[in-house]
Amino acid sequence: MNPAQMSDEQYDAITRLLRESAGLAFDHSRRESIAYSIGERMRATGSADVPSYLAMLTDGGERQALLDEVTIPETHFFRNPPQIRALRTHVLPELLRQARDTKRLRIWSAGCSTGEEPFTLAMLLRELLPANAGWDVRIVATDISTRALVAAREARYAQRAFVMTDPLDRQRFFYLDADSGHFVVRDEIRDMVEFRHHNLATQPPPFGPRELDVVLCRNVTIYFDRTTTKNLMKRLHGCLRDGGYLFLGHAETLWQVSDEFSLVPLGDAFVYRRGVGADSKRAVLPDRRTENEPRPTRADRRRGPVDRRGSRSAVAVTPAPPAEPDPMVVVRTAVATGSYVEAADLAAEVTTVDPLRAEAHYLQGLALTNLGRDAEALVVLRKAVYLDPHDGFAHFLLGGALERSGELVAAGRCYRAAATTLGTRPLDSVAPELGGRSVAELVVLCRQLALRVEGQA
Ligand SMILES: C[S@@+](CC[C@H](N)C(=O)[O-])C[C@H]1O[C@@H](n2cnc3c(N)ncnc32)[C@H](O)[C@@H]1O
Repeated sequence: MNPAQMSDEQYDAITRLLRESAGLAFDHSRRESIAYSIGERMRATGSADVPSYLAMLTDGGERQALLDEVTIPETHFFRNPPQIRALRTHVLPELLRQARDTKRLRIWSAGCSTGEEPFTLAMLLRELLPANAGWDVRIVATDISTRALVAAREARYAQRAFVMTDPLDRQRFFYLDADSGHFVVRDEIRDMVEFRHHNLATQPPPFGPRELDVVLCRNVTIYFDRTTTKNLMKRLHGCLRDGGYLFLGHAETLWQVSDEFSLVPLGDAFVYRRGVGADSKRAVLPDRRTENEPRPTRADRRRGPVDRRGSRSAVAVTPAPPAEPDPMVVVRTAVATGSYVEAADLAAEVTTVDPLRAEAHYLQGLALTNLGRDAEALVVLRKAVYLDPHDGFAHFLLGGALERSGELVAAGRCYRAAATTLGTRPLDSVAPELGGRSVAELVVLCRQLALRVEGQA
């Protein structure tokens, strides 16, 4: 597969189209992988050059094919064990108890990819409701990728989808297709899930107001721009009933996105909940302000909630809320939403308090390189690789900053170190903050970049 050679204008035209049609935000760190996707679509459509391929994108079918190519389908069964525990032990039993009379439950897996997430929900429900008889349970699973939905409807999975699955669950809910070696979801689970095509950025939800009990929208908004995420959260809020639950991915928060939900700790997971009343909302959103109250500073936020008399209360109203997300989650979210100045500042604050935190140096370097501040990025990325020599992503970024600064020999060494250290990770894992590239893709890219700079040195 050859990457397409695109001018800046052509790259901008393509990323604008992806943003407008699916809310997907691509910065320049994604250029290489977009070039591969465009190259693949040019080959598939027989386009002679980039302009003739761009002309084809007026056609809805080709736009969909490109979306299938650029979206990241990474997922697996029972993903995010703390959230799975929260669903299994708190959320689903509570919802079933509440629905004792109506016997009605509505769940949406929004951005379901190849189906592992909604099928996991079905398995959890099946454990709790051994006989569905008399219950009206619907799990609707949607995605923008037609390719992912085809795979989801086939419901056949290779070994790698089961990294988090208990072998007993696999035995119970799947059968082995001996010819292909794939595991196939049993009908009793398959029948509980309905797959549909749906665009979360542009279409209204496939549910009416207050109809839903739970929404899982995990690891989807990390690829969205902030406005798309804000609008989406408003719509999700609208179709959740009071007390309904919202699950986001571990790197996603509603901080500075929506204050309409309550953040609730459940075991070792944090989940969002549509407020069940003014009191509970105040309890879990301690720093909600009136228009005239001053914005808290970052230091204030770190210290925790302030009560109405202005003293900082050590004891929160029950249930005890987390004062704010983990700072690294906040930094990652700022990176994911393209707020690089904020990400760099926040990461710098973290390293001031904890200078040995390699991840914070790395994310600061990532934000600075995105801002074009290579000289500053070099300083922090050197610290990142010094503190964690096995962090291939940091070597990769340092290589780029060195190359742009003309230090080609050192850049070549970094790219090689990146290829070697990344090669020790699962090859299909993904780095969302590096534009969602898979590790396999980065390893190949780093080797190519090493050859290129070595040739110039
Ligand atoms: C990384 S997967 C997450 C799968 C699953 N939710 C999980 O956490 O394991 C992200 C999914 O979001 C989908 N997606 C991206 N943009 C979308 C949009 N605008 N509307 C609906 N789905 C979208 C992608 O096609 C992809 O399948």
